[in-house]
Amino acid sequence: MTVRVPRASLTTKSGKSVFVTRSPEETEALGRRIARGLTVPGVVLLRGSLGTGKTTLARGIATGLGLEDSSLVNSPSFTLVNIYKAKHLIYHVDLYRLEGERDFRSVGIEDFFGEDGVTIVEWGERLPFPARSALAVDLDDAGGDTRVITVSKPIRGKHKSRK
Ligand SMILES: Nc1ncnc2c1ncn2[C@@H]1O[C@H](COP(=O)(O)OP(=O)(O)O)[C@@H](O)[C@H]1O
Ligand SMILES: [Mg+2]
Repeated sequence: MTVRVPRASLTTKSGKSVFVTRSPEETEALGRRIARGLTVPGVVLLRGSLGTGKTTLARGIATGLGLEDSSLVNSPSFTLVNIYKAKHLIYHVDLYRLEGERDFRSVGIEDFFGEDGVTIVEWGERLPFPARSALAVDLDDAGGDTRVITVSKPIRGKHKSRK
């Protein structure tokens, strides 16, 4: 199936790009595109409530970073962190169940940030400390299969690939 990579429907003055996706496949395609603009080490904060598509977007980002088996990418709600080996290590974290400083310390999330890899954080709004130079992505459910996805920095255009 060919999936159209959604174009930014709007770029705001502050440089945010707003995308509208209408299927999980389109959200994955957007994730692959976001991956091309990432620097390593890097942190991506996915912010949005349950069912807005954070895991779906993470799957696209991981695929874009060279992970072949995208079925590995599932919500790490119980494990807290999944680690995938692609071109770089990918740390896929979910903060949904975490409460309080102690829990956060038990994940050791800061340790990943400096690693030569990409950390993708679901429920990134719960991170109790600022993540410098993280890419923040806000996801909103606009009803049905429509998601409004706002990326905090402009991301690279369609035709550039990572070399
Ligand atoms: N445009 C869309 N983008 C992403 N997911 C969508 C979209 N439309 C419908 N869905 C559905 O919404 C759900 C998103 O789930 P998931 O990615 O696990 O969200 P989260 O991790 O934010 O809880 C899936 O069941 C998916 O099939
Ligand atoms: Mg999830």
